[in-house]
Amino acid sequence: MKIVTIIGARPQIIKAAALSRAIVSSYSHEIEEYIVHTGQHYDDNMSEVFFRELGIPKPDKNLNVGSGLHGKQTAAMIEGIEEILMDVKPDYLVLYGDTNSTLAGAVAASKLLIPIVHIEAGLRSFNKTMPEEINRIVCDHSSAIMFSPTETGIRNLKNEGFSIGVEMPYTSDHAGVFHCGDVMYDNSLFFADLAEKESRVLDEHKLKSKAFILATIHRNQNTDEPVRLQFLFNALANTAIAENIDVILPLHPRTQKMLEQNNIQIPEKAKSLLQIIPPVSFLDMIMLEKHSSLIMTDSGGVQKEAFFFKKPAIILRPETEWVEIVEHGTAVLAAKNEADLVQQAIQYLHHPPTEFPEIFGDGKAAEFICQTMLDNYKALQ
Ligand code: UD1
Ligand code: UDP
Repeated sequence: MKIVTIIGARPQIIKAAALSRAIVSSYSHEIEEYIVHTGQHYDDNMSEVFFRELGIPKPDKNLNVGSGLHGKQTAAMIEGIEEILMDVKPDYLVLYGDTNSTLAGAVAASKLLIPIVHIEAGLRSFNKTMPEEINRIVCDHSSAIMFSPTETGIRNLKNEGFSIGVEMPYTSDHAGVFHCGDVMYDNSLFFADLAEKESRVLDEHKLKSKAFILATIHRNQNTDEPVRLQFLFNALANTAIAENIDVILPLHPRTQKMLEQNNIQIPEKAKSLLQIIPPVSFLDMIMLEKHSSLIMTDSGGVQKEAFFFKKPAIILRPETEWVEIVEHGTAVLAAKNEADLVQQAIQYLHHPPTEFPEIFGDGKAAEFICQTMLDNYKALQ
């Protein structure tokens, strides 16, 4: 069975590591993987570092599409992916998450009648002003097999008309929908010990275990509105000052650019506590997550990793697709005003949650996905 995998943005490279690892270790005699990198992310610390560190096979092809307006970027990806699919003729196209690279893959493959497998299916924010919400919906509704990491994802798909438990073979008009756990959880379990051995990030930034806040910000709703961006930086700074605690912020290049462009200021008293650093590698990120006291983030992946490593999270957004972590009380949606947001952080620092049930699977989602794709491939022969 031959699959083409599309990656492009940082979290997809990381997610794809789990499936590639399962293929190499358990399915190499049955599954051949051809990896296409769209080039959506291209800085060394947004792309190449993950291939070096996580042992992911190098992409067979990089489309080098780079940054740009949604239409131009997505169109260039569709064109490149279409050509490759016509040449490679895979049995499945495997797509991750909800980026423009995901959308481009879904459009290209569905027109060529190549069955789509969507990993991280069914997630919804119910906010169609997010580009990702449109990308997810298009991808799910073009897929032959969908793998959802959560029960909520399955419920969302049911509500959109998909039937659960239908018989094989699956096609785009008769899709298979599975709740299988989260490939990101597979990765966090797999790399946690290696991170302890290899990462020097705590020493490099003079951070003491369980005595700092980890923060990330990159969503366009936060970065592209200067008042909102300044509000978030004020809240981080004022939490640091109020609790005299270090805050480390590995900054996405999008946010870095907007900080400079809008001349966003950090309050003087927080400058010795708030460290803004370039994006870090995955092992460094895991290390920061494992040893933090609190995570403040607008990232989908990072809010879940907070849960995997039993850390409270403040989600710097008005809604989340990962509602389970909020329902369990281990995460909250950020308050709208600064004083309340600082108070949320102080509350979690002083009263961290202790119950983190296993809701993201058993660390073997990737194996389940490989086996299900293979079973369906055989059913289609
Ligand atoms: C994209 C995804 C988002 C995901 C995020 C993960 C879409 C619509 N959005 O957002 O869902 O959460 O990736 O990180 O697909 N840039 C660089 N170097 C890079 C990459 C980006 O400087 O290697 C800068 C460029 O100025 C670019 C901007 O970041 O214009 C945004 O990059 P883009 O890939 O368009 O969107 P993200 O915000 O990264
Ligand atoms: N990540 C990383 N280095 C960083 C920031 C994030 O390795 O400096 C990892 C993080 O651990 C998670 C993934 O990138 O696995 C999340 O990606 P991102 O926040 O860019 O996107 P999202 O998940 O919101 O789509």
